[in-house]
Amino acid sequence: MATISSNALYTDLSGYYDLMCIDINYKAQSDYVRRLHQLFGNNGTRHLDLACGTGPHIRHFIDSGFQSNGLDLNQPMLELAKIRCPEASFDLQNMCDFKVDQPLDLITCFLYSIHYCGNIENLKRCIASVHAALKEGGVFCFNTVEKTKINNNSFMRHASDLDNSQFVFKSGWYYSGEGDRQTLKLSIEKNTAEQTQYWEDEHPMVAVSFDELKALLEPYFDVHVFEHDYDKILPLPETSGNAIFTCVKR
Ligand SMILES: C[S@@+](CC[C@H](N)C(=O)[O-])C[C@H]1O[C@@H](n2cnc3c(N)ncnc32)[C@H](O)[C@@H]1O
Repeated sequence: MATISSNALYTDLSGYYDLMCIDINYKAQSDYVRRLHQLFGNNGTRHLDLACGTGPHIRHFIDSGFQSNGLDLNQPMLELAKIRCPEASFDLQNMCDFKVDQPLDLITCFLYSIHYCGNIENLKRCIASVHAALKEGGVFCFNTVEKTKINNNSFMRHASDLDNSQFVFKSGWYYSGEGDRQTLKLSIEKNTAEQTQYWEDEHPMVAVSFDELKALLEPYFDVHVFEHDYDKILPLPETSGNAIFTCVKR
């Protein structure tokens, strides 16, 4: 068994990342956010994807007419993104403290990556950086989980085949019930005819309730919260702990 250090997670994972995400409907997610931007935004097309990874959303935004660029903390992920989106620029920066050259119309952060801010202080810095980078009327859109509604026993499992190997990916959230830290647990099992290899990681993520998050955002933005359903724009039910936040800069 090998354990991935948390800093090296996406360096070690970068070659497997697209395989791990093969079931994600990136086009549906990108189209949904474009609809939100049409409804709430300023009609501009300058877009930045925070924690962009290998750039799958950026590909769809560019294909729909946006001028999209990406920001991520991990150079190997950005190198893959550049291959996927040669038209885009990719910036090695921390989303908790980033700057842009020109103001933007839309900033996104997909796949719960906002939680990589790690703690509330960094989350506040990220929100302030986003606010400074947007034009007036610009939109910040991201998905997020509510800390009090995390089911510590629930895991996503997904298996894929590549080059005579079978991969099993598992991920799940863990929240102790106190404080501003939750954990993302990831494991990858690689089975070949000869051997089985196993990696696992527990990554520290910021834990926040939706009410706390709204209180952080509302000084800067008009905040709209929707159910996590990329097919329909729906209000968030009381019981749901999985949301899409759409924030319009005042
Ligand atoms: C789960 S992946 C999501 C990638 C992409 N958004 C997607 O939907 O496929 C998380 C990404 O966040 C990046 N990341 C983690 N912490 C970050 C930070 N503080 N600033 C910028 N990127 C960060 C990682 O390098 C990784 O590429």
